[in-house]
Amino acid sequence: MKSKFVVSAMLAALVSTAAFAEVTSLRGDQGISDNNEIAKIKKVPKSQDKLGLDYVHQPPLIPHETGQVQLNPSNNGCLECHDVSTYRKADAPRVSPTHYMDRDNKILTEVAPRRYFCLQCHVTQVDATPLVENEFKPAGKFGQ
Ligand code: HEC
Ligand code: HEC
Repeated sequence: MKSKFVVSAMLAALVSTAAFAEVTSLRGDQGISDNNEIAKIKKVPKSQDKLGLDYVHQPPLIPHETGQVQLNPSNNGCLECHDVSTYRKADAPRVSPTHYMDRDNKILTEVAPRRYFCLQCHVTQVDATPLVENEFKPAGKFGQ
């Protein structure tokens, strides 16, 4: 009985090492104690042409740099140009009505808390190689 248990434990250990061997993390084949390679910070142009949307409910990419914009619980720099009360003066696109809806679809007068941290969904356009292979193809008129 005891030897049976030992054999199955050894087998389990072997199987799990084999399974681990096939998995590589995004940082590559580096040992845990090795220093990580420093990723180059991507250069974001001050402003650029908008890229096409790839699917219906995609948060549009940000066509301008955002490094200088303050975005924290007490100040939302994005809304200084994109809120309903500021967008005309800034000549910027207004946040859409969905941004005023809370999770029960109740319309609020302020941007809903779940849409407050803009960079959670919107990212700056930058020319970067994808971290993982992606075969997604936009359907129909999307992606143009
Ligand atoms: C100084 C004003 C200003 C600030 C601050 C600003 N934006 Fe913008 N944003 C603009 C303008 C102007 C455009 C339109 C650019 C164009 O049409 O090429 C724009 C475009 C966008 C778009 C593209 C919308 C679309 O329909 O394609 C997104 C998304 C966006 N901004 C998000 C953000 C986020 C998120 C922040 C905060 C991190 C931010 N912006 C801060 C002025 C601003
Ligand atoms: C939870 C994800 C999410 C967050 C957070 C979010 N957005 Fe969006 N945003 C979207 C999606 C999805 C769309 C496109 C569909 C829609 O309008 O809902 C969009 C659309 C937009 C547009 C284009 C509007 C239009 O009419 O085409 C602008 C501008 C924008 N967002 C700015 C912002 C700003 C500024 C913030 C922060 C205050 C923000 N968003 C936060 C998901 C998000």
